[in-house]
Amino acid sequence: MTINYSERIPNNVDLASNKTLQRALEHWQPRFLDWWKEMGPDESAALNVYLRTAISVDPQGWAHFDHVRMPDYRWGIFLTPPEKDRKVNFGAHKGEPAWQEVPGEYRSTLRRIIVTQGDTEPASVEQQRHLGLTCPSLYDLRNIFQVNVEEGRHLWAMVYLLHGYFGRDGREEAEALLERRSGDADNPRILTAFNEKTPDWLSFFMFTFITDRDGKFQLAALAESGFDPLSRTCRFMLTEEAHHLFVGESGIARIIQRTCDMMNQHKTDDPAKLRGLGVIDLPTIQRYLNFHFSVTSDLYGSEVSSNAASFYTNGLKGRFEETKIGDDHSLAGAEYPVMEVIGDSIVTKHLPALNTLNERLRDDWVKDVDAAIGRWNKVPEKAAIPFRFKLPHKGFHRRIGVFAESHISPDGRVISEADWTHQHRNWLPTSEDQVFVQSLMGRVTEPGKFANWIAPPLRGINNQPVNFEYVRFG
Ligand SMILES: [Fe+2]
Ligand SMILES: [Fe+2]
Repeated sequence: MTINYSERIPNNVDLASNKTLQRALEHWQPRFLDWWKEMGPDESAALNVYLRTAISVDPQGWAHFDHVRMPDYRWGIFLTPPEKDRKVNFGAHKGEPAWQEVPGEYRSTLRRIIVTQGDTEPASVEQQRHLGLTCPSLYDLRNIFQVNVEEGRHLWAMVYLLHGYFGRDGREEAEALLERRSGDADNPRILTAFNEKTPDWLSFFMFTFITDRDGKFQLAALAESGFDPLSRTCRFMLTEEAHHLFVGESGIARIIQRTCDMMNQHKTDDPAKLRGLGVIDLPTIQRYLNFHFSVTSDLYGSEVSSNAASFYTNGLKGRFEETKIGDDHSLAGAEYPVMEVIGDSIVTKHLPALNTLNERLRDDWVKDVDAAIGRWNKVPEKAAIPFRFKLPHKGFHRRIGVFAESHISPDGRVISEADWTHQHRNWLPTSEDQVFVQSLMGRVTEPGKFANWIAPPLRGINNQPVNFEYVRFG
């Protein structure tokens, strides 16, 4: 297979003259396409989709819109342009020039970091692959496909690093990224949340709202890395991630809007009546929020982590907005508050900041999620409906870290096994909730039409009207 590199694979890494990278990609690219055909969006091969493709990193080129067949999507390789004289900005190597090659002593750690990030990208495509068949509109169908092709490109971004900087073991890891499967008992994706099902559009919007936001914070921390190619790769990925967060946040806001409209129209807040009217009652949305928030919280790992400390000290992974923080960037003697369960109470203690970097990144993410929930709450507020969405306590429904062995209520009380058994159905989606939400899912493909359970968006994509033919069939 011959590839016209600059045409077929838009890039700013001089692929046309990099023989080593070409050879690696010649082998990997057909396998990627096989994976896309097998595990990418169901029944999508014949569709023409109004997609954004990055063809360069400048403001004109990074968001080029056109109708394209998805298997012909041009997955590219882009890094933000180098920053002149960039330094390692934190840890023991602070002040040294940023590394343009992998430092030998950190090689396996860096490879592991890149593989773990890379694995989440195809995983989410696999999790979402059936949802196109139940899209609530053409607008939404286009949006999920946009997210899917960009997660595919994020996989390319990580594979570029593996191929370009890690030699033979990098190539092996790049192949394994196409072999694991979300939810597979024998060969699962690396992180638990990426093996959960995304069975309906409420779950999809929650996932892009909350779990893609974890992606944002992980990428932001890696964008601080002293390994410059990783930093520049992650910086460019962040520009795409913003759209994924928008899809989730606005998707849920439109569901809330539709429900609030029906509540006022029919003067009821009775979940059973609202379900009878074919919309999702607000307490059910809150339970989905509780689930996705708690499962995604676990992605940050244990509150206390010596791995996180060494990633930082070695200059591999920084804090969120590291260079904007006004401290010594080595965390010598600094402390950070972390919760702990002692008996029936949750206490806060102060531990070395270096060992609690997972918790700090989780806290930064929680603040961001919470601000977005404040924006959702404007919808019932404007509709004069008293219901407000609220994040559960950090310890609620956790499987990893200091809360893993306890039951914590959403309002932050340590409760008994019996209490949990009695009450968890009020806090997490029940199988009845899931069956109901899934019963609403049906395919709407007429331009400008929307499923009954979701309001139309305020505006279309790239200044196109809401009733634009975002996806062409046949
Ligand atoms: Fe991604
Ligand atoms: Fe994403």
